[in-house]
Amino acid sequence: MCKVAVIGYGVVGSGTVELFMKNRESISKKVGKECDIKYILDLRDFPDSPFADKMIKDFNIILNDAEVEVVAEVVGGTTFAYDYTKKLLEHGKSVVTSNKALVAEKGAELLKIAREHNCNYLFEASVGGGIPIIRPLNKCLAGNEILQISGILNGTTNFILTKMIKEQMSFDDALKMAQKLGYAEADPTADVEGEDACRKICILGSLAYGKHIYPEMVHCSGITKITLDDVEYAANAGYVIKLIGSVKKLDDGRVNAIVCPRLVPKSNLLASVDDVYNAISVTGDGVGDVMFYGQGAGKLPTASAVVGDIIDCLKHHHRVLALTWEDCDDKNFVAPYKDM
Ligand code: HSE
Repeated sequence: MCKVAVIGYGVVGSGTVELFMKNRESISKKVGKECDIKYILDLRDFPDSPFADKMIKDFNIILNDAEVEVVAEVVGGTTFAYDYTKKLLEHGKSVVTSNKALVAEKGAELLKIAREHNCNYLFEASVGGGIPIIRPLNKCLAGNEILQISGILNGTTNFILTKMIKEQMSFDDALKMAQKLGYAEADPTADVEGEDACRKICILGSLAYGKHIYPEMVHCSGITKITLDDVEYAANAGYVIKLIGSVKKLDDGRVNAIVCPRLVPKSNLLASVDDVYNAISVTGDGVGDVMFYGQGAGKLPTASAVVGDIIDCLKHHHRVLALTWEDCDDKNFVAPYKDM
């Protein structure tokens, strides 16, 4: 029997449990062994949940249960999540996560710990919600030098901009709707100020270029200053406004990374990426351009990526993807905004 634990029963955590339990039989067949979720850790009470019998409040129960091979950290943030992830990896348990804040801040360190303890730290759900992008970048596109990664990386802001563009809805009303639909972060400032997209471009850039790109190295501006007038002005000129994150390699070995609203011509593929959808374009020196498109936020799309990582860990306990990048103390690795 393969046992899994889930830490955090919020939007993504409950989606992960729901999807895993719904498809448990087929997942067990794919893994080749009976699989189950043994524990769900959350400090809140969920007496009416169909999974109430799995709920616990003590992290040490998971840490010290040798039966638990894989843990999904979907609690978010960088405090408890960091402490839990570090301890789990040090105990040789694989951890999968949707927590881009933690990966963007501590990825190099946590990947090193996973390497040293021969287990996995996987985070397919941390970028693009349900869109496969970490695996393709790490495996299928590994034969390429990655020249550029660019795209729409935040579902909440794309949803808000779409509502402003297509329905002339106010920024505040569109944000409230995105929160209600479970797309926004607990504190939506991270979405609307571009920080969430920034964390994601840092993760993709770190993976593509082998050195940890920290969010504070990257110029980032969000969409809070975009007005309905701006949107209309852009439309009349043949453009739509999109929040775009991009990272590219420079000839001198440094990288350029930036997140900001841009005018996208209506004829460009990205202009028709609406609502909560994300689209990520990768340019490699062999493959040329490839585009990844799908639901970039939301309960079940994000859970889809988390459960995919869980299955991979259950199938291949030891270092399935061997994701890795070095830490970076070179302040000049990311070229300053003025050099772009
Ligand atoms: N708040 C994020 C977004 C969730 O809107 O894209 C998915 O990372």
